[in-house]
Amino acid sequence: MHIHKYEKWWLIFGTGSLIVFLIVVGIGAFHQGHQPPSAKAFIDPELVSETAPFDEPGLKKVEGKDWDYELVVVASAFYYDPGEVEIPKNSRVKIIATTKDVIHGFQIAGTNINMMLEPGYISEYVTTMNKTGEFLTVCNEYCGVGHHTMKSMIKVVD
Ligand code: CUA
Repeated sequence: MHIHKYEKWWLIFGTGSLIVFLIVVGIGAFHQGHQPPSAKAFIDPELVSETAPFDEPGLKKVEGKDWDYELVVVASAFYYDPGEVEIPKNSRVKIIATTKDVIHGFQIAGTNINMMLEPGYISEYVTTMNKTGEFLTVCNEYCGVGHHTMKSMIKVVD
């Protein structure tokens, strides 16, 4: 069978790129231990309001943990509970969030905090609020007609 030389080069290039890709992914996965993030905490989305800590959304001071506060957030169409919260500057905060209905986002504008809230899963993130100001939290997953109105405010105060 005759194969044109350009076609041969193209086959070699295609196969070669595939091998390089698999080697790169393989090194990342097996040597460096990279994995996709996996959910560690689950919740019954129908029982969010009755399940601790989501039965009492808001900011709570905690003792004896690696963080000073826990910010418990419940998202539902089309708002967050709490809608506004004040956090003292330089406190270490663990955000614990979930949704009661559909997928929502939780992005704190001006920071690199950006979580997806999925029904049945609990999303967590630990951060230090070291800048004072008002931080708008927006939903960046399209969740219905009120999606664009879905927001809350985090005020970091002295
Ligand atoms: Cu909630 Cu978009």
